[in-house]
Amino acid sequence: MLNILLSDTTFKNIRDYIYDKSGIYISDTKKYLIENRLSRILLDNNLNSFEDYLKVLKFNSNAHELTRLFDAITTNETFFFREEQQLTTLIDHVLPPLLKNNNRSSKLKIWSAACSTGEEPYTIAMMLMEQRLTTQHFEIHASDISEAVLASAKKAVYNSYSVRNIPDSYLNKYFVSAGDSFNLKSTIKNSVHFRKINLIDEKSMRSIRGFDVIFCRNVLIYFDTKAKQKVVSNLYNSLNPGGYLIIGSSESLHSITRAFRPSIINKVIMYQKV
Ligand SMILES: C[S@@+](CC[C@H](N)C(=O)[O-])C[C@H]1O[C@@H](n2cnc3c(N)ncnc32)[C@H](O)[C@@H]1O
Repeated sequence: MLNILLSDTTFKNIRDYIYDKSGIYISDTKKYLIENRLSRILLDNNLNSFEDYLKVLKFNSNAHELTRLFDAITTNETFFFREEQQLTTLIDHVLPPLLKNNNRSSKLKIWSAACSTGEEPYTIAMMLMEQRLTTQHFEIHASDISEAVLASAKKAVYNSYSVRNIPDSYLNKYFVSAGDSFNLKSTIKNSVHFRKINLIDEKSMRSIRGFDVIFCRNVLIYFDTKAKQKVVSNLYNSLNPGGYLIIGSSESLHSITRAFRPSIINKVIMYQKV
């Protein structure tokens, strides 16, 4: 393993670079995270110091270098049926009025805006299918900043840890087990459209609009207040009037925005675009 010293000054410069490009804020106490996660990249690039790596990032960076950085610094923990009460509230309380809307001429559009390895959008897809809805009725889009997690999401092969919360009836119906793995069936796999979107990047955010529901769960925690405000404002623009934003149950929009109307449905906070 590499043992290259990361000075406080270079740590702060790399930290600022990451913040600038992704909104992810790494506090002073997490210096070890940069040291641990980036040392592999230094090794692969034959670089002897973090100062040299910073120079590559700043002056000689290309899309590949940025991709590797994002893949390394993001935290991608996720699992199927995470925060299930939010999901059942969506199905039982939020979607019926949206679907009944007589003016609806288009499909219901749902976006999992930091989808990691795909468990969140696939859970939503399975739950919708259980309501006898098909891709004729809905469209699910899913995105992340990390190309590595998107590649894994598209494969849709999971281990027992990821599937630990899936009810048996869903597991039997929508997965095929192969040794230690659980392969998602293509009906669900093909119902989710994956793409790379950086939530802090206004240009790419402008390309994704017109949603009825956006899930942006367990990602705002990695941003500081300024970045949260920017991301939430971008998400607001991507919602249809009357659409809902759903954030993680431990996250809050308090002091971030007053643009949404928060309502408590079935003990779950939903933020509606008014
Ligand atoms: C902890 S996972 C959450 C996954 C899922 N939403 C859930 O709640 O289980 C956070 C995800 O946010 C992604 N992420 C971090 N910064 C991002 C950004 N600026 N734009 C898009 N995705 C980002 C990470 O790559 C990671 O996959």
